[in-house]
Amino acid sequence: MLKNQSKIPDSIKNAFAPDEFRANGHKLIDILADYIQQASSGSLDYVLPPVSPDEMLELWDDKLPAEPAGNFTEIIKGVLDRSNHLLHPRYVGHQATSPLPLAALCSLIGALLNNSNAIYEMGPVTTILEKKLIGWMSGLIGYGSNTDGFFTSGGTLGNLTALLAARQSGAGYDIWTEGCKESSKLAVMVSEQCHYSIKRALQIMGLGEEAVVPVPCNETFNLDTDKLEETYQKATANGKKVIAIAANACSTATGSYDDLEAIGAFCEKYGLWFHADGAHGASALISDKYRTLLKGIHMADSVVWDTHKMMLMPALSTAVIFKNADSSYESFSQKASYLFEKDAREEWYNLAHRTMECTKLMMSFNAYTCLCVYGTKFFGDYIDRVYDLTKEFAQIISQSPDFELAVEPECNIICFRYLKDQCMDINGLQFKIRKKILSEGSFYIVQTVLKDKAYLRCTIINPLTTIDDLKDLLDKVREVGQ
Ligand SMILES: Cc1ncc(COP(=O)(O)O)c(C=O)c1O
Repeated sequence: MLKNQSKIPDSIKNAFAPDEFRANGHKLIDILADYIQQASSGSLDYVLPPVSPDEMLELWDDKLPAEPAGNFTEIIKGVLDRSNHLLHPRYVGHQATSPLPLAALCSLIGALLNNSNAIYEMGPVTTILEKKLIGWMSGLIGYGSNTDGFFTSGGTLGNLTALLAARQSGAGYDIWTEGCKESSKLAVMVSEQCHYSIKRALQIMGLGEEAVVPVPCNETFNLDTDKLEETYQKATANGKKVIAIAANACSTATGSYDDLEAIGAFCEKYGLWFHADGAHGASALISDKYRTLLKGIHMADSVVWDTHKMMLMPALSTAVIFKNADSSYESFSQKASYLFEKDAREEWYNLAHRTMECTKLMMSFNAYTCLCVYGTKFFGDYIDRVYDLTKEFAQIISQSPDFELAVEPECNIICFRYLKDQCMDINGLQFKIRKKILSEGSFYIVQTVLKDKAYLRCTIINPLTTIDDLKDLLDKVREVGQ
């Protein structure tokens, strides 16, 4: 027993009391186990409860009590009742996953240990687990032994981190120290279908919108590699210094994989940095069946790979992996004597040298544990299941004359629209259908616009979703559309 603990106020002692934790924890696990049962069996009333932002504002107290007043279980139930239920098999919306319950338990451990690994001392285990996971992912990419990386908070930050390294590598001077020079006109060629975080990263980096050089896509929304030369020459003739190409592996809207081999060869020809945004699609590397979608990814200088999308992990947990270990130190060159003792490269274990964050979640721990417990094959089988299911769904849509597919799905993202006879505003109809379905709460789906045509968009990300759920979705769209 440590000395003088008797002087600690009872309210503080009680908040940290193991018995209080045990009692609350048992209650919590019971509530969550019931929730998993209800959500995954589809017996909840709504996928997304139809509560507007203004109504939600009214449902929660403005004033926080000065004295103990809140009931833990009531607050949890309020959160569960009013949230979007990603564990529901009829959640087929954005690319946020139905997390593995075991991963959620790991998050609890992460929250309690709070070993935020800015530096090794503050998160010794999770620092090393990051390295182990990066090693496994690098192997799947096909990188050699001189590779390195780390985890960061989301694909958006991952893209920024990788592109900062690309900027440092291609600027021709120490842009991190000297800042952007007006004369340099650095630019990055990006797929017309790139995620908005790529453009945002270039603007955050001070390169401006001018730096974004879009490469047109083909009819299936893959970057059109026949347009690379022309786009590059035009940008160069306009005085821009193209330093990199950012490719989709795969794209957000339609899940289209760019031809990484051809883009890699083009980058080699002109000495450009090659960045592959695999936030959604890099997980297909785990699948024997779908790995070929990423042929050529080993040519990329940097890869971003979210485990909170297609590896069933809770948000956020993104790997940023560099072909050349040295590049992983190029994004940031901050000196902070209160944190670091030596040069960044001598302190490979102090990851804040290389990440935007100082404090960050114990984000490698969830994936590492689940990979150990369930085995890597489990994750490959998951990819196969949802990619296959999406293709089966596409086949049904193609055979239905009242539906139109935007494009054959390459992965588990699918866009389609309902065609109603004599409807003058087919685009408006899709938006109305989505709104109505959401108001009923039977499914959660999203929408997108491609070449001026509106589509309903689904990401079939929950492994518990079945073809019957998807057939019911088409029936629901028909019913509402009529
Ligand atoms: C291709 C792609 N890149 C990046 C992102 C951004 O990832 P995050 O939401 O983890 O920031 C997304 C998100 O949907 C994406 O689809």
